[in-house]
Amino acid sequence: MKYEFTEDELKQIEVIKARYPEARPATLPVLWIAQNKFGHVEPDVQKLVARTLGLPEAHVHGVAEFYTQYYKKEQGKFVLDVCTCLSCQICGGYDILHYLEDKLGIKHGETTKDKMFTIQQVECLGACGYAPMMQITNGVYVNHLTREKVDKVIHGLKNGEMPEFEPMEMRKVKPQEN
Ligand code: FES
Repeated sequence: MKYEFTEDELKQIEVIKARYPEARPATLPVLWIAQNKFGHVEPDVQKLVARTLGLPEAHVHGVAEFYTQYYKKEQGKFVLDVCTCLSCQICGGYDILHYLEDKLGIKHGETTKDKMFTIQQVECLGACGYAPMMQITNGVYVNHLTREKVDKVIHGLKNGEMPEFEPMEMRKVKPQEN
């Protein structure tokens, strides 16, 4: 497949480039533009980004490889990022990961045959207080996961319902009396 940006996208990229003294800092936002357009940034898309920004392919490749948020190959409709970093690990992150793998019949890094789900094992999602955590397609956070909650989320997604983040109740602190 031949990957190209449209005239409008190229104009948008020029605006981004103009914010910086050189092209390198534009790598992240332009990779996002590419991923939003093509659904992934596989090597040929990375080459397009490098060409467009006038940067070495190795640089763009290095950036894309570093972040799990950039998809290096075609993914399922929903990408399930399960955190197994320390806090989530202590709170059962691996149990959630393996339960999800068994439920969907794939291992992390794989996509279901119907192209509905991809599982990724990821590092800290920056919400350790809500462990164990999962993120759906670089967007919605699902917190305090249990096997039952995983069942509910998967059932919902299959029926077009995106789960909502459920924040902890704010601790009620009695105001100090003067
Ligand atoms: S360790 Fe899982 S969100 Fe930080």
